[in-house]
Amino acid sequence: MKRSFGSDNHSGIHERIAVAMLRANTGDEVAYGEDKWTEKAIRKMKDIFGNDAEIFFVFNGTGANTVSIKSMTKSHNAVISAGCAHLNVDECGAPENFCGIKIKTLETADGKITPEMIDPLFHGRHDQHHVQPKVISITQSTEVGTVYTQKEIRKLADFAHKKGLFLHMDGARLANAAAYLKKGLAEISTECGVDVLSFGGTKNGMMIGEAIISMNSETSEQLLFFRKQAMQLSSKMRFISAQFEEILKGELWKELAEHSNKMSKLLESKIQGIPNLEIVYPVQANAIFAKIPKKAIAKLNEKFFFYTWDEDESVVRWMTHWATTESDVLEFAEDIKRILCR
Ligand SMILES: Cc1ncc(COP(=O)(O)O)c(C=O)c1O
Repeated sequence: MKRSFGSDNHSGIHERIAVAMLRANTGDEVAYGEDKWTEKAIRKMKDIFGNDAEIFFVFNGTGANTVSIKSMTKSHNAVISAGCAHLNVDECGAPENFCGIKIKTLETADGKITPEMIDPLFHGRHDQHHVQPKVISITQSTEVGTVYTQKEIRKLADFAHKKGLFLHMDGARLANAAAYLKKGLAEISTECGVDVLSFGGTKNGMMIGEAIISMNSETSEQLLFFRKQAMQLSSKMRFISAQFEEILKGELWKELAEHSNKMSKLLESKIQGIPNLEIVYPVQANAIFAKIPKKAIAKLNEKFFFYTWDEDESVVRWMTHWATTESDVLEFAEDIKRILCR
């Protein structure tokens, strides 16, 4: 394919991860997570998230989100999220279908929701005619490349818990957020009060696999069974676990996410001030959203692959990843300049 600024999912597998999978490919192992690789990966996860954390490896992000939501809800519940949330827009209704819940959305200026925005949604509480909010779901980093601060997450967690709700975090890009904030993975999620976390590996150099981190005994008990019902229990789990063990070793996750974020910052610095180009959200993680003329989108797409985020507003998404090179970015920036300055 053309060089891609389309998604971090377009990247390959980091060599260390590929080698870790090969290392796990030795002889027989018991299936369904009863193997030594899973034991080691869970130990590493618990070193980060604490001994009370229960870890459930799954295949993909939609599965992680959906099974997480299932563990926190009944079919008369509502999940509150940003309108642009992946679980609302890009999961083909999986959470609604599998959990029977309703997603109540909030329109945001920057992908982030706040307690003040959520408060009016409690109209109809305890009324049998209305769905009952049970989960607030936030994305870290957000779908528009912004990052919740620890203070913002703590505020949301306190608000959720006071109202008797759970706080879920879609951390498909948790590593990018942690790299941006220069904090640890738990520091910007579970230690701020997140009850159930979907922690992504695929976008940051792994081949396949995400982890659900549950901090609540009630949800942990459910997750064990719902993961299987949702077809997210891997028989050869050792190959997901070996990847997680490797990406956590020596904080490889951080190195890869820092690089990915750095490439977005580099691109931002090279395209700032170009006429007819407006960067529409702060560049904090590994994505840039830019408003450019429609004609320029087609021209740029001739050489580089990327997606139009908003057709009506003519906003495109340029995403970098762990394997994006400086020369890719410089060449892309030159192309943007050449086409927009014509
Ligand atoms: C924010 C977010 N959450 C979750 C996912 C996981 O999706 P998938 O089911 O494709 O692994 C994605 C993938 O693009 C995402 O961007």
